Parts: sequence; structure tokens; C-alpha cells
Amino acid sequence: MKRKNAQLLLLVTLTISVPPLIISQLAAPVSFASFAQQQDPEYSCPMHPEVKSKKAGSCAKCGMTLKPKSAEPDSASSGGENSASSRFPNVELLTQDGKKVRFYDDLIKGKVVAIELMYTTCKYNCPLETARLVQVQKLLGDRMGKEVFFYSITIEPEIDTPKVLKAYAEKYRIGPGWTFLTGKEADIKLLSRKLGLDFLPNPNDPDGHTPSLLIGNDATGLWARNAALDNPKFLALKIEQMIGYGARPANTVAANEAKAVKLNIDKGQYLYATRCAACHTIGNGDKVGPDLLGVTNVRDIKWLRRIIMEPDKLIEEKDPLATSLFIKYKQIRMPRLGLPEADVNTLIEYMRTQSARVANREKVGTQN
Ligand code: HEC
Repeated sequence: MKRKNAQLLLLVTLTISVPPLIISQLAAPVSFASFAQQQDPEYSCPMHPEVKSKKAGSCAKCGMTLKPKSAEPDSASSGGENSASSRFPNVELLTQDGKKVRFYDDLIKGKVVAIELMYTTCKYNCPLETARLVQVQKLLGDRMGKEVFFYSITIEPEIDTPKVLKAYAEKYRIGPGWTFLTGKEADIKLLSRKLGLDFLPNPNDPDGHTPSLLIGNDATGLWARNAALDNPKFLALKIEQMIGYGARPANTVAANEAKAVKLNIDKGQYLYATRCAACHTIGNGDKVGPDLLGVTNVRDIKWLRRIIMEPDKLIEEKDPLATSLFIKYKQIRMPRLGLPEADVNTLIEYMRTQSARVANREKVGTQN
């Protein structure tokens, strides 16, 4: 029974996470509800559910403390009997401004939404996901807060109080229509299970994509799960399709264009665009992180490799350069993205050629 459910969810997950632009109906609420009742006497990582252990400890992938999967009451204050609210428990959460809200009634009902799980002390993918959503937010412009709403729910509520979340939101210059949420641990666990965001297979995708963003339209009942690390243009497009679903055809021209771009660019450019561009530019000034123009000329190559591969270790070791950058950039972390060394070398090469190209362009004074 348990296996069957797992397979069912796996299937659903695979179906709805196939890129690009596949929109699909979530499974009947039943399959999610029965999931929630399972008792599994294991520990697992909130960010990497595939990491499981019989003992307490920390996640081999990200170092986060493993959480017991058993003894999680499914009784969290869910309300209502209708299918939407059993899929989306109506638990009480707190916004970054300390306002009490009901998950379904206040945040989901009748709306187009994007939901991500995160935690502010994350050294790995979450800072990139948040930065990427900032790009999506920009692309959606003034539809944010009117036609579409973003929710970032912390999975570390004991640390991420409203105050902490507010400071985090300010660092990333979060705009209207995007709410950070905390609450009771049991309620948040229940939520992440019901949203299917805690039980995703991670087939060791070489790109390291972690599907952890759920976008949907409560009014139409259409939901899709995406890698939050996806190209922001794709994400914005998918969200726009959610908004316009049924009302107007999908913007296929833009979709095809985006697809072509994604397929034709070289590896370095692709890695840079999907992993780095949310926080950096090469020659267009500082963003969340420093402008990388010429960085390959002024930094030692070994140090460069390390700041890309294990920035958290450099900070732990009190590396003076990494520490001063960390302070200068308002203590936003350069995230540890788990890239293999070959990709890091490709990226360094990309930064080098791109910097040369920008410098050259300035010399010649042309547009391209
Ligand atoms: C979530 C935002 C974010 C992402 C994503 C990100 N960085 Fe950074 N990066 C930073 C910040 C912030 C700093 C400043 C140091 C710090 O605060 O840790 C930094 C610093 C750096 C530095 C050092 C700059 C210098 O002046 O020496 C390099 C090199 C770098 N990042 C490269 C990359 C590459 C390559 C990627 C993609 C694989 C990437 N970064 C992804 C935020 C980010």
C-alpha cells in the first residue's frame, strides 16, 4: 500500500515536472491525504527527502539536521471538508509582518500562486531560488500582488521568526505580492506533505535541479511543480499561462523562442544563466552579489574555484577576502550550489571570455 502510494506520487511528480510548459492536474486529494497518515520511523532531511537515516544526525548533502518523520500528528488545525481545503490545509501561519493568516482561506483561495519552501540559514540552493524568484517577480511586473502571489514558507520555523523573515525579504528587495511565512512546525510539515514539496524524487539530475516550486491556480484547479532553479523567463511564462488559462491561448511564440535559446546556448552560458545570473552580472554592475567583470584576472584561480564550490567553508575559515565580501554584500551568502568541478572550470572559463568580450566591446565602442 505504502509502496503503491509512493509510486503513484512519483508518477504524478514525473508527469508534472517534465519541462517545459506542461501543466497538469494534481492527483486527487485522496492520495495526498493518505500520505499524511503514514508513519515512518525514520529521519530525513527537510531539503533532501531522499536522504534517510535510522538515526538522528545531519544530511550528507547539505548538513541540515535530520528531522524525525514519525510522530507527526496529522491533526494540525486543518479546517473544512471540501476537497480544496483538504488538499491545502487551512493552517494558521504568520507573515513576515507578524500578521496571522489562514493558509487556504487567505493565501490560496481563488488565486494564482507560486509556493516555495526555504529557510534563511540555507547555504545551498535556497538563496539562488529566492534570487531567481526575484527575477520572475520583475518579469511579472505589476501583476504581482494583483493577479499572482508568491509564498515562501520556512521549514525552520523555530529559527525563522517573522522578524528574521522580514530582514531576509528586505535583503533580497522583495516586492509587493510576495509573502514570507512561518508557523508551527507540525503545521508546516503537514503543509509541505500535502503540497507534495517534501516527497520529491531527486534523480541526481546532473544539473542539480530540485523541483521545489509549486505553481497553480486555485480557481481552475491546475497545478504544476517546477524546478525553482529553472530559467526565470520560463517560470514567468508558466505563471502567466496559469493566470490566462482558459482566457487566452498560451504565448507559444515566446515559449518556442525561449526553448530555442535554452537549447542553443553553450554549456558555460547555460550554467551561468541558470546558476549565477540571478545574483551577478558581468559588466553590468552589482546585483545581489558583486559584478564579476574581470574577476578571473584579479583573483587567484584556486580561490575562485573554492568560492564557487565551497563558499561557506571560506567564511568558516575566516578567509579575509571572502569575509569582507560577505560583509559588503549585506551578509547575503554566495550559495554552495553543489556544482561538480568540471562545471566550475567551465564557469571560470565563461567568466574569463565574457569579461574579455565586454572589455573588447568597450574598447571598440559597439553595441555587441
Ligand atoms: C544567491 C545569490 C548568488 C548566487 C546564485 C551566486 N552568487 Fe556568487 N556571490 C554572491 C554574493 C552575495 C557574493 C559576495 C560574497 C558573499 O557574500 O559570500 C558572491 C561572490 C562571488 C564571487 C567572488 C567575487 C569577487 O569579487 O571575488 C564569485 C567569483 C562568484 N560569486 C561567482 C559565482 C558564480 C560562478 C555563481 C554561479 C555558479 C554564483 N556566484 C552564484 C551571491 C550569489
